[in-house]
Amino acid sequence: MSKKNLLLLPGDGIGPEIMNEVKKLISFLNTKKNLDLVINEELVGGASYDKNKTPLTDDVLYKAQDSDAVLLGAVGGPQYDKLDFAKRPERALLRLRKELRLFANLRPAICFSELVSASSLKPEIVSDLDIMIVRELTGGIYFGEPRGIEPIQNGERKGINTHVYTTKEIVRVTKVAFDLAKKRNKKVTSAEKSNVMEAGLLWKEEVQKFYDENKQYKDIELSHMLADNCAMQLVRNPKQFDVIVTDNLFGDMLSDEAAMLTGSLGMLPSASLSEKDKNGRIRSMYEPCHGSAPDIAGKGIANPLAMILSFAMALKYSLNFDEVSDEIDKAVRAVLKDGLRTPDIMEDGKKKVSTSDMGSAIIDKLN
Ligand SMILES: NC(=O)c1ccc[n+]([C@@H]2O[C@H](COP(=O)([O-])OP(=O)(O)OC[C@H]3O[C@@H](n4cnc5c(N)ncnc54)[C@H](O)[C@@H]3O)[C@@H](O)[C@H]2O)c1
Repeated sequence: MSKKNLLLLPGDGIGPEIMNEVKKLISFLNTKKNLDLVINEELVGGASYDKNKTPLTDDVLYKAQDSDAVLLGAVGGPQYDKLDFAKRPERALLRLRKELRLFANLRPAICFSELVSASSLKPEIVSDLDIMIVRELTGGIYFGEPRGIEPIQNGERKGINTHVYTTKEIVRVTKVAFDLAKKRNKKVTSAEKSNVMEAGLLWKEEVQKFYDENKQYKDIELSHMLADNCAMQLVRNPKQFDVIVTDNLFGDMLSDEAAMLTGSLGMLPSASLSEKDKNGRIRSMYEPCHGSAPDIAGKGIANPLAMILSFAMALKYSLNFDEVSDEIDKAVRAVLKDGLRTPDIMEDGKKKVSTSDMGSAIIDKLN
């Protein structure tokens, strides 16, 4: 089996603590399951700023470009809030996304039945929910030109942003969604505002054209939904969805909404993927949806499961270890079933455990 290179970027706050649990897991998998994962660890975000006066050095960026997958903890903290924009920890994420050309953001929203009471929705609506939101990450209104704030008459000002998409941008993210649906429950819902936006109409037409022209996806059911209706349907009946594909702006909102259906921030992984380069290589970055949680950093109580599930996604989508990835998902379910809980997901009658206990319990289940 060929060696796979993983770059670990623990970052700030609870990042190093939760990454530590992934390191334990990797060392177990290398020894017991012969995975041959080679890890490299580097600074990012505030930790990198403290040492190098920049949140991401060129050297670390090259290492990220050269690895089979990047695993990131979290960046940021109150001590960096007053830095110039260019030096802020979050700039590292933006630069990594840009330079690795990560155009597709995969945000699963999974509600483990054992944690159903953490959701603000009725248990029957969210129990065993498993949907995937695919958000376009490098186009649309967040990047469109012209943009800016300009003076107009009477001392007033005008703020401008441009919502723009090309066929190529739409088609490549659509393909990601269909490929995921093939491995899942074979349904794709495309969300846009084709009723009021030309770029939304183009989105809808290009998604439909892609489906009509690519017969290998005929076993998948495609539907189109207006993004505002999609937001409503997500709280009304989220289990109707399998894969939702949408643009950068709507994806930002819909993926946060879907995440909150599950109620527990410490449980949510994410992945960002690039196109194939000329050598057939896809770059990727995996990270939990939560931030660096400075309020609990260093206390050994952070929930490491979002980080561990992000690693499981890397095993599936970048490293070709689908089976091990599924085993980790099952191990997470099993420890929750056993009643183990970090404080953020603690309920009456369950057993409160530390970050490290939770990581070790996952390994015990895999043994
Ligand atoms: N991708 C990223 O690295 C990322 C994302 C969001 C925020 N941030 C940064 O993180 C810092 C804190 O931001 P915030 O407080 O708004 O969001 P946050 O996600 O860090 O924390 C929100 C709340 O959830 C809790 N929480 C989050 N993850 C947890 C976990 N794994 N286990 C247990 N509890 C957890 C925190 O203790 C806090 O009470 C800021 O500097 C922000 O810029 C980074």
